[in-house]
Amino acid sequence: MRIVPVLLAGAFALASCGKSETPPTDGASDDAAPAAVVAPTAAMGEQIFKRCVACHTVDKGGHNGIGPNLHGVVGAAVASKSDFSYSGAMKAKGGVWDAATLETYLEAPMKAVPGTRMAFAGVIDAPDRKALILYLEAQSK
Ligand code: HEC
Repeated sequence: MRIVPVLLAGAFALASCGKSETPPTDGASDDAAPAAVVAPTAAMGEQIFKRCVACHTVDKGGHNGIGPNLHGVVGAAVASKSDFSYSGAMKAKGGVWDAATLETYLEAPMKAVPGTRMAFAGVIDAPDRKALILYLEAQSK
């Protein structure tokens, strides 16, 4: 049975691929989170926002595109841009875009708001979503 070791080796290679790298610990901060994850920042979010610019601007007074301008969207009422034509689904959603509602929406827009016109699959990685929301939050001045 020569195939078995080959399969095992393959499985091992796949498994090690999925592992994230552990950054070196310098011992400088004792209370740092033990997880080997870099904390999301607004600057990282600016990079993620590149996935949105085909349809959205975020600058103050920026034009609406396929989607509405997103300046100050964190803390704003859902579907609040009077000069944008939202879907019935978005208008019916109600509430406010806060970190929690954005988190759910951006993970799977078409699941969170069935019938939304935002044809976007979602931002799959949670740290990416966090960074993106921090960036959007910073774009409100
Ligand atoms: C293919 C175009 C497209 C892409 C890409 C896209 N959006 Fe949208 N977005 C829309 C449209 C269209 C709407 C309006 C949806 C509706 O009315 O149902 C919308 C609505 C929104 C809203 C609600 C705004 C409001 O005023 O209530 C947010 C927040 C949002 N998008 C964030 C994002 C973010 C962040 C990204 C990138 C990760 C993104 N969108 C990517 C088209 C897009």
